[in-house]
Amino acid sequence: MSTTVITGIGELVTNDPDRSEPGGLLGLLTDAAVVIEGSRIAWVGLAADAPAADVQVDAGGRAVIPGFVDSHSHLVFAGDRSAEFEARMTGEPYSAGGIRTTVARTRAATDEQLTSHVARLVAEMRAQGTTSLEIKSGYGLSVLDEARSLAVAAQFTDETTFLGAHVVPAGTTPEDYVALVTGPMLAAAAPHARWIDVFCEDGAFDVDQARAILAAGSDSGLRGRLHANQLTYGKGVQLACELGLAAVDHCTFLSPLDVESLRDSRTIATLLPGVEFSTRQPYPDARGLIDAGVRVALASDCNPGSCFTSSMALCIALAVREMRMSPAEALHAATAMGAAALDRDDVGVLAPGKAADLVLLDAPSYVHLAYRPGVPLVAGVWQSGRPVV
Ligand code: NIG
Ligand code: FE
Repeated sequence: MSTTVITGIGELVTNDPDRSEPGGLLGLLTDAAVVIEGSRIAWVGLAADAPAADVQVDAGGRAVIPGFVDSHSHLVFAGDRSAEFEARMTGEPYSAGGIRTTVARTRAATDEQLTSHVARLVAEMRAQGTTSLEIKSGYGLSVLDEARSLAVAAQFTDETTFLGAHVVPAGTTPEDYVALVTGPMLAAAAPHARWIDVFCEDGAFDVDQARAILAAGSDSGLRGRLHANQLTYGKGVQLACELGLAAVDHCTFLSPLDVESLRDSRTIATLLPGVEFSTRQPYPDARGLIDAGVRVALASDCNPGSCFTSSMALCIALAVREMRMSPAEALHAATAMGAAALDRDDVGVLAPGKAADLVLLDAPSYVHLAYRPGVPLVAGVWQSGRPVV
């Protein structure tokens, strides 16, 4: 198996708890090196101690971080909703009803069109340092269109999520639609999906419907995650905690009881600050959550309606500037905690035996991700040990 040593790393973020100083999150090393063997990390340590390898790369004193783990995206869609965004920026509120616009365009697209669109977005993400990615369906909302959306997504990631319960499509009742989602649609989707998700919100699905849909998914072998408390207060976060779901995403409107439930559960609160940026909603209280002991992840939510960014660096910058996360908390949330939100421990950390997913930054420190917002800082990406950027 071929080996590569990246040496001359001025600052290495390992996220390795064994290397973290007390109170530290990132397991930082300075003047470090990493050895990659095949698709895995073989060695991490000081550059002066690095073993020889077949290929040597000099980082030139720059920083290396784990690849971003983007645990929430909706990439399978067709069409454009920039007019909706423009209207929002001049005073219209965000409406989840726009989902139906994308559903019509997605249903009209061919498999090839959907696949090439997802490929373009995945390449865009990779170029910005994302090496692990979750992709949801949710713009098909028919048995055929949900199944083919997931088949497209599965070409790009193992972390595929069935989101047939995104909204109730036109021409059906909520009761009939929940029966479809938990019956024939689930049967067609399950072979292509690892996860099941529900948009639990006023105007989408209530907490009883969400419970029934997640239970049906679980019976078909799909693990649960939830969209909840995005647009208003509600019981979704507490349902996610009660069921011990891997993650509950958005968490913008939380009661003190929601925060306690999160603190006392295994469920990760995934914050999606690109959404608040793109909808002019208030940001979630990341500082309050972290100070209360809640485990927080950051993800892009890349989708055509509420947030069309693919940039995890932007999410980090927003989390730091607008949600009072420290740069270290934000980077950890975008890597190791994103992995935890997907029930994974093989990515998001640079330690022997873990996936060789690394990003070389054109910067001396990870802090530049927030310090230089909007600047493309990714100088190189290795995914499963292969240089891809
Ligand atoms: O996560 N909240 C529900 N779904 C997406 C938005 C979908 C859309 O507007 O197209 C979200 O924000
Ligand atoms: Fe979403």
